[in-house]
Amino acid sequence: MSMYRHQLYRTWLSLRHRPQLRNWVYGTVMLSTLYFLYQFISPSDSRQTFPLESYVEPELLPQSVWDNRAERVKKAFQHAYHGWEQYAAPHDELKPISNTYQDNFNGWGVTVFDGLDTMALMKLDHEYKRALKHVEDVEFKLEEGKYAPYFETVIRYLGGMLSAYALTEDPILLRKADELARKLDPVFGTPSGLPYYGVNPDTGATQGPAIGILAEIASLQLEYTYLAKVTGKKEHFDRAQNVINIINRANYDKTGGMMPIRWNTTDGTPFDQSLSAGAQADSAHEYLLKQYLLTAKRDQESLQLYIRTATQLITELMYISPTRHLLYVTDKVPSRTSHTAQISHRFEHLSCFLPGLLALGVQELPLDDIDFMDAFDKDHPAQRAQWEKLRGFSLRDVHLWAAQGLAQTCWLSYADMPTGLGPDEMLFYTNMPEQGAWGGGWFAPKTAAGGARPMTRTGGGTLWVDALRSWKRSGARGVPPGVGDKTPVVYSKEDRVRGAFGRDYSIKKDEYLLRPETVESLYLLWKVTGEARWRDRAWRIFEAIEVHTKTPAGYASLRTVQTSPGVKDDDMPSYFFAETLKYLYLTFIGDTPLPLDKWVLNTEAHPFPVIQWTAEERERFRVGY
Ligand SMILES: *[C@@H]1O[C@H](CO)[C@@H](O)[C@H](O)[C@H]1NC(C)=O
Repeated sequence: MSMYRHQLYRTWLSLRHRPQLRNWVYGTVMLSTLYFLYQFISPSDSRQTFPLESYVEPELLPQSVWDNRAERVKKAFQHAYHGWEQYAAPHDELKPISNTYQDNFNGWGVTVFDGLDTMALMKLDHEYKRALKHVEDVEFKLEEGKYAPYFETVIRYLGGMLSAYALTEDPILLRKADELARKLDPVFGTPSGLPYYGVNPDTGATQGPAIGILAEIASLQLEYTYLAKVTGKKEHFDRAQNVINIINRANYDKTGGMMPIRWNTTDGTPFDQSLSAGAQADSAHEYLLKQYLLTAKRDQESLQLYIRTATQLITELMYISPTRHLLYVTDKVPSRTSHTAQISHRFEHLSCFLPGLLALGVQELPLDDIDFMDAFDKDHPAQRAQWEKLRGFSLRDVHLWAAQGLAQTCWLSYADMPTGLGPDEMLFYTNMPEQGAWGGGWFAPKTAAGGARPMTRTGGGTLWVDALRSWKRSGARGVPPGVGDKTPVVYSKEDRVRGAFGRDYSIKKDEYLLRPETVESLYLLWKVTGEARWRDRAWRIFEAIEVHTKTPAGYASLRTVQTSPGVKDDDMPSYFFAETLKYLYLTFIGDTPLPLDKWVLNTEAHPFPVIQWTAEERERFRVGY
């Protein structure tokens, strides 16, 4: 003991004469103490459910820790893929509980096609070689009377082969991609040239209603533009460009600027006025910005429609919840009985791609140079009205706030659950008058719910948009309404039985389908803001995936996220390989192989390199931008 004290005294003496070293030692002791205390006092509701590792402030973690985490994701990929190889090959997807398979996307082995480029990125050479052999052997055949769903086949199969080709340059991938595109081509047999729902690749028979769904008719531009680049074939370029021309030419006066869900595939015009950021619409909005980026920022018309769409989403479909002030994006259906639109206040997991897309735009666009983008025709009354709504704000600020606020809500939908995994669909409460709490449109200046009651009041009786303005006027300290970090609210079993209201939403669909959208946005928020909290949240989601969804042969969707441990379902979608694990991996590795200004990811997370047309291509394809 006295020896020990003596040592301590000598150390102290030596430190006295070396102020730098002393400061360093004091600093370390202080930090450790603070961190130790923090462990006890911090609000850690979400952490208690899966304490796999002791929590360290993510800013303090060295890259070597993140490298290990990336390695863990790679191991997860191998585990799941080996399960597919063992029990499901050559079929579409593994059923990871019964260790059987299902053929739900043409039966050509969709898991392989979706996973190829992730294998290339993770440098899983053995798996990749075996997968390539599978691709080579597939014939893209279907029995008579069966139809390949065009949209899913394009984003998964065609996108998967093309992106793997972009990364590895294996010529077989290009040959098979071109072969598949040719077999699918009869799908464009509508008078407008918008694709039918489905096609038989052998007989060329097509299937589908005359009214098409936005996401399914307008999410092929990236794939076909890149296919044209690498094959040199004008017909692929024309397929993409026809869709782009149709959506750019359409009249959106009735919808306020953005594309509605339903389209007449005979004459290529909007069919209704339903608006959504989620299912049935999502990727069509996504491809506006991404087509602009893929064409090395040349396709200005796609950019303009993206800006008008984002404006509409922000001013009309984004809302704030009454007590926690969570920002969410929802959809709008015109009412049959009155002239006002119905806002559903549904918030889908699928819509959680939007914060990432907005963040990507913040990074890549000159958002505050509205004249450069030339997105609003000031002589056009509807467009002028759109533009006026955000006047006085920096567009860049607003897009970044929206990205942060929505990503926060997407993350909380996970952190609020005892499993640490988010539900597939939520329904937000609008007003809670007993608590004097009102939700409302984030930027909407008028009534919104379709009733007479003003929906747009904060607790103090002001409009949310006015709250934003006064926050700005008062020096814009901290974060604006709807944007900051919130504490998770995890219900106990008693809370659930009693019917608690503390989250501001109820759960409409409580399954977790191994979906990627939230980790996709966390990845982009991390890349664009450089704030480690986004990366940290992605890690916590991966931990929850490991704890609650892993089976001996793979990973399983959850039937409910509301009880811990989660209740598994016998299903492992191919997008888990293409997207969920890829985004997690990209979030944790150090140097990215896919810089945001050089690669554009399709809606299934398949990356294509930015395209520069040569003079010869411009002339031959008649590139109009
Ligand atoms: C679609 O457009 C065509 C041509 O304008 C029209 O004849 C047809 O009735 C429209 N379809 C529907 C369902 O409205």
